[in-house]
Amino acid sequence: MATTVGKEREIETLVQDLITLERDAIAAYDSTIEKLSDSALSSQIAQFRQDHLQHLDVLNEMAAELGIPAPTEGDAKQMLTTGKIALAQLMGDKTILKAMKTNEDDTVTAYSRAVNHPEAVEKSRAFFSKALADEERHRAWMEQTATAL
Ligand SMILES: [Fe+2]
Ligand SMILES: [Fe+2]
Repeated sequence: MATTVGKEREIETLVQDLITLERDAIAAYDSTIEKLSDSALSSQIAQFRQDHLQHLDVLNEMAAELGIPAPTEGDAKQMLTTGKIALAQLMGDKTILKAMKTNEDDTVTAYSRAVNHPEAVEKSRAFFSKALADEERHRAWMEQTATAL
């Protein structure tokens, strides 16, 4: 199911939902790195994982600045449907990368909405647009690499 992250009216809820989304993404990356049979593909995914860790750091800082609690776990339902657990059950590099591409559809959608959030201050908007560019780069790679396999 397509993500609803980015549609939040309050910036506080947006930041919290983005943190959950990033935690889900990182967990899915962990499964992917373990499952891929081609180590060159795994090391590229490990590099993308660093981008997500950086996104999580910035979002945690934003939560602290907003004075709100930052979620410390991902979403259990998401893990079963498209996340860590679902990925652990997939076989074959092409299938895994295609599944990861659909996860990146969600991160791209979420940050493209976040960029336009009316309550986002300039610094937040700059971060959202940097994160969006990262997620678009991840998605393009997943798509091209899966197609070529
Ligand atoms: Fe991310
Ligand atoms: Fe990503």
